[in-house]
Order: sequence, then structure tokens, then C-alpha cells
Amino acid sequence: MQQEYVLEMIDIVKEFPGVKALQGVTLKVRPGKVHALMGENGAGKSTLMKCLLGIYQANSGKIIYDGKEVHFKNTQEALNAGISMIHQELSPVPERNVSENLWLGRVPVKGFKVDHKKMRQDSLDLFKRLNLDVNPDAKMGSLTVAKMQMVEIAKAVSYDSKVIVMDEPTSSLTETEVEHLFKIIEDLTARNVAVIYISHKMEEIFRIADDVTVFRDGCHVATEEAKNLDIDKLITLMVGREMTDMFPKVDCPIGDVVLKVENLSAGTAVRNVSFELHRGEILGMAGLVGAGRTETAEAIFGMRHITGGKIYKDGKELHIKSPEQAIKNGIALLTEDRRGSGIIGLLSIIDNTVIADLKKYGFPLNHKKMRADTEKYVEALNTKTPSVDTPIKNLSGGNQQKVLVGRWLLTAPDVLIVDEPTRGIDVGAKAEIHSLLSKLAGEGKAIIMISSEMPEVMGMSDRIVIMHEGLMTGILDRNEFDSELILKFATSDEKYVKEAQ
Ligand SMILES: Nc1ncnc2c1ncn2[C@@H]1O[C@H](COP(=O)(O)OP(=O)(O)OP(=O)(O)O)[C@@H](O)[C@H]1O
Ligand SMILES: [Mg+2]
Repeated sequence: MQQEYVLEMIDIVKEFPGVKALQGVTLKVRPGKVHALMGENGAGKSTLMKCLLGIYQANSGKIIYDGKEVHFKNTQEALNAGISMIHQELSPVPERNVSENLWLGRVPVKGFKVDHKKMRQDSLDLFKRLNLDVNPDAKMGSLTVAKMQMVEIAKAVSYDSKVIVMDEPTSSLTETEVEHLFKIIEDLTARNVAVIYISHKMEEIFRIADDVTVFRDGCHVATEEAKNLDIDKLITLMVGREMTDMFPKVDCPIGDVVLKVENLSAGTAVRNVSFELHRGEILGMAGLVGAGRTETAEAIFGMRHITGGKIYKDGKELHIKSPEQAIKNGIALLTEDRRGSGIIGLLSIIDNTVIADLKKYGFPLNHKKMRADTEKYVEALNTKTPSVDTPIKNLSGGNQQKVLVGRWLLTAPDVLIVDEPTRGIDVGAKAEIHSLLSKLAGEGKAIIMISSEMPEVMGMSDRIVIMHEGLMTGILDRNEFDSELILKFATSDEKYVKEAQ
């Protein structure tokens, strides 16, 4: 007889110094179902999963898997038993190739030697079975995040896992890749695999989840079948109060042009992009992943070599060659990739907050002011941490993002470019970030906001630039916003031409 649950985590408690991350939570997962794990940043979702995988040892509680009580000492033990996890922050071995990453710890051997041929063939077979287009010989580090994720999923499948945990798997995937992932999930559940799915994206949850469990502050709040929930109910369970997931920009006067970008090119990634940005304005940038929006931002911020065109600030031409020069000229960039170019893991929240503009704190450094400034943003963004001295790596993914937002707000730039500012951020904090951006615009700052979320880009922007494959295909005024129109210009080279008034 099949058990009702393939996995039961009962009364799990996990404490870190100064933090009660899990205060006796229970999660029961049915085989062949997608179980969504929801909750605000720092609610304890990733921690519970790490307790399951043996990455952390719970202080107390019981894990029953496949009818038996288990205690995994490490991920390898969990994998061998049939539980695998695709992590929020991927950590592949970048200098090894895909095959080696896939079969790490269980390489096929022939005599005393690694059987590279078999390893390669096994990889190809696996990718074919999952319909993945990945070259097994490519260096892991050369793959896009999406491809790396696909490799991780293939790895989980190759272990014949009964339970696969996916911690915010779609945060860097394009729409086609998301569809592909959902298809794989469907195949998995059809083969009776249970998927524990963590995401802050409501649409995803309602599309694929069968069951939903909500945590708040390390406590279990509710478990419901998805069909009995709607977005409002779910948000209320997560946040503990009613709210919407959108904070529209507050009207404020639009001033002079502060930044002018003229025929900007950066290789083939950015081709002849031109726009003006005014004080008090939020200029949205829409487009699909890979449209060249991030590259445009990097070119303006001095992180990417410019091959053509000009950039003016307050009417004066700029020749920015590095981020330091950009910051000096009053331009800041919040990058989308917090691990690659964002957080410095071992340093404290204070250090991570003040680092972009250390000069402000004099010599010797005024630590008191550094602390006060950091505390101000930790409070404003509701960042969950025991103290501002905590190393940033100890924070949950979303809370790390909040620290980075604070970092750039603190430099008080004239032009703030934010690239996917609310990725991985829960609904409550999202509204806080929106309101902060709105407030900055109200103070006469100019903001460029790259966002792949249609409601966000439409709700927050005064105008929207749309890009496709490095080209700017359109620019819309607020009264012209229309999601279908935006999508149309985001998916083709066709250019938006304004109708005569
Ligand atoms: N290694 C650690 N050391 C100290 N505290 C930690 C550690 N890992 C997690 N925490 C704390 O435990 C709490 C729960 O974190 P967790 O990462 O599980 O949150 P989450 O629900 O996954 O959030 P997010 O949506 O932001 O990813 C947080 O307050 C976090 O700061
Ligand atoms: Mg997490």
C-alpha cells in the first residue's frame, strides 16, 4: 500500500546563535505532488530544507522518509537515499566540465581509471531523456545560470530521487526555460516524484502547486491545497495582514534631463540604444532575459566596454571607464546577480552596506556613523538579522538583497539603476522597496528600473523602454502602457512607432 506521505518533517527546531530559525515546524509531503513552501524572507524555508538534506542538523524534531525515521549526515547520504536539492545559490565546481559535475562523487571507473567515455555517454543519455540542450564537455563555469540549473535538475533525476527540493529555481530563467522546467516537473510528478517548490512568485505557485505550506518567522502557519487558496488569501497567510503585492509610484513632478544616452553600443549586446532620463522619473526597462537591458546598465555604469555612442549627464559628456568613476559621477547600479558582483559574504552587514562610498566616513573611519546609517536601512527595509555585525552570508537570500538595496540608496546617487530589484524578495518587502524608489524619485532622483515582472514595471514606471536582442524596440508613455503591447515589442525586432496625435 502506498503511504499517504513520502516525507514527514515533524516539529523541527533549528537555532543559530541569536536566531530561532525554526521553532517546531511540520511539513508533510505527498508523493507525486508539488508542495509549495511559502513565506517571507527569513521565514525559514531554506533552513528547513537544509535540515532535511543533512546540511544542517536540527536541534530537535523527527524526519520520516519512506516510512522510516532518517538522519542524514550530509547531502551525499540524502542523495543516495533519494532526496536531492537544487539550491537557491548554485555552487557548482566551475572549472570542471558538465559531466564531471554531474557524476561528482560517483564517477564510473574502468580498472583504476575514470571511464570518461561512459561518463560522457551517460550525460548525453540523461540530457536526451530530459530533452536538455547542454554540452557535457563545456566548463561548468561557462554555462548560463539557467543551464547550470538544468544540470542540477538532471543530477537530481539521475539519482532516481523520490523527493526533489527546488529553492527558487526560476529566479534567473527565461520564460521558455521556465516552461521547460514546469514540463520536467510534470514528468517527475507523473513518475510519483514529490517536488518541494520554494518561490516568491505567486503565478508559479498557482500554476504548479498541489499543496501549499506557509511559514512565518520560523513557525508553521498553514497547509492547504492550492485549489482552496487565492492570491489574496495566500498573501494574508504569509504576511499576517492584508496587502497588495504592488506599490504604484507616487506622482511627482518630472524635471530636467539628467542622463542622456545617445546611440549607445556595447558589442552586439547593446546596439544603438538612445533615451533620456529626467529628474523625478522612473524609467522602466522591459524585455526578455537576454534582451540587453543588464548590458545597457553595465555600459552606463562603466562595467562594460562601450563600442559606440555617447552618454551625457547634466548636459556634459561622460567618459566612464569604471564603476568607481560612475559612482563619482552620481550613478549607481544595483546588480541582478547578488552573488557574482554583489555581496561580500564574510563581511558584516555594516561593511556590505557602506562599502560603495567609504570616503564619506572619513579617515580614520567613523564607525559610529557607519553603524547608524546601516541600522537606518536595516530598519527601513525590515531586513531580518540578529544584528548589523552579522556576516551577510548568514542572512536568507532575500534579506541579502535588501542589504544591497540599502547600499545603493545610501550613496544617494542622482541616477540609480536597479536591475531586478525585487528578485527573491517577499511581497511585504517588495512594497517597501517600491515605496523607497518612489520616495527617491519624489526627491528629484532619477531611476532606471529593469524588471522582468510585468506588474512591477507597469506599476512603477513613468515611461518604459522595451528591448529585444540588444535593440531598443519601443518607448511608451504611461498612458500607453499595455502588457500585450510590451510583450509584442519585447519578442520581435518590430519597432514601436507612435501614432500621430
Ligand atoms: N548559517 C546561518 N547562520 C545564522 N543564521 C542563519 C543561517 N542560515 C539562516 N539563518 C537565519 O535563519 C533564518 C531563516 O533563514 P532562511 O534562509 O531559512 O529563510 P528563507 O525562508 O529561505 O528566506 P528567503 O525567502 O529570503 O530565501 C533567517 O533569519 C536567517 O538569517
Ligand atoms: Mg531561502
